[in-house]
Amino acid sequence: MPSSPNMGCEMAPSADQVLKALSTIVDPDLGRDVVSLGMIKDLHISPQGQVAFTFELTTPACPVRDQFRRRAEEALQGMEGVTGVDIKMTANVRAAQGRQHQEMLPEVRQTVAVASGKGGVGKSTVAVNLAAGLAQSGARVGLLDADIYGPSVPTLTGTREQPRVVDDKLVPLQAYGLKLMSIGFLGGADKAMIWRGPMVSRAIQQMMTDVRWGELDYLVIDLPPGTGDASLTIAQSVPLTGVVIVATPQELALEIAVKALQMFRTLNVTPLGLVENMSWFVCPGCGQEHYVFGHGSTERAAQRLGVPFLGGIPLDQQIRSEADSGAPIVVSRPDSPGARAFRDLASQVAARTSIQAFRRLPVINVR
Ligand SMILES: Nc1ncnc2c1ncn2[C@@H]1O[C@H](COP(=O)(O)OP(=O)(O)OP(=O)(O)O)[C@@H](O)[C@H]1O
Ligand SMILES: [Mg+2]
Repeated sequence: MPSSPNMGCEMAPSADQVLKALSTIVDPDLGRDVVSLGMIKDLHISPQGQVAFTFELTTPACPVRDQFRRRAEEALQGMEGVTGVDIKMTANVRAAQGRQHQEMLPEVRQTVAVASGKGGVGKSTVAVNLAAGLAQSGARVGLLDADIYGPSVPTLTGTREQPRVVDDKLVPLQAYGLKLMSIGFLGGADKAMIWRGPMVSRAIQQMMTDVRWGELDYLVIDLPPGTGDASLTIAQSVPLTGVVIVATPQELALEIAVKALQMFRTLNVTPLGLVENMSWFVCPGCGQEHYVFGHGSTERAAQRLGVPFLGGIPLDQQIRSEADSGAPIVVSRPDSPGARAFRDLASQVAARTSIQAFRRLPVINVR
């Protein structure tokens, strides 16, 4: 008999053994192993010991994506009988739970609002870059400008056309891989208008349900500043996965941000965490980082409130100039410190929304 190149094929590990090895990998955010979370798909083991599978993350912006791949390779390469490992990394953003969400936005998996206590702290800048950062990771993302008093998405994305209407629905504009909708795109929006509570609510609801968003992993919503009528109405009428609160490190601004966070909690909107904008200043001359308003105040506030600290964004003149020229810095200057900070923020936010989606899911027994 000719000697077989498949000698030792009986040594190939079983699916059970492979899954057991992979179940040592624990998702740091979800606190459970990746096998019971259902992240290992299409497992195939050849008689020669070639192990192939799909690693399905809960978000393409997963902060531990590379770490997961490395850990899986390490766990399997050391196993007896394994001759090769082929891992395909994919992502499937899980839908938020809740009936209201499914009825109102059946094709949108997660809705993330960006809010603040004070105006002018960089909410819209954060919302645009968060959305663009998520889209860069491969997610399908929409951006809804819910600031009907002072819409800024048209300026921040350099989009000004009037959306088309097809079958009684508005077709969102597109830029930087994002689907966009803002009252600023609609005729007459530049006129001074008095918005009363019910009108605010109706306009926002229409911008959600009368828009052909299509399938989205994330809909990022830029809220108006403060805890006034508009924010209140939106928090109550829009199904939100959670809210990201933007604060700046000055004491007073932070105090107001904390109040906003507590208001959202009262309305049963989950705070996904606090982000500190204008956190530090990078000296354009010497490159040194200066914490002009002190260091760590927002992180400490987050700890005190029991919410995640999602990270800081530098005070960077380029963030403003890029915004003014209609380009999110994550797209136009992807290597700048500001862009890196926004991408990290996008990963953190994506991880927090995954936690929300998984909170009530039972353990999947794949064996
Ligand atoms: N990290 C940053 N570095 C430099 N400039 C910034 C930064 N974040 C925001 N800005 C600038 O600060 C100004 C206010 O930002 P933005 O419009 O995003 O705030 P906002 O909270 O949405 O304001 P409003 O309350 O009016 O909606 C803009 O000119 C913006 O370019
Ligand atoms: Mg704004």
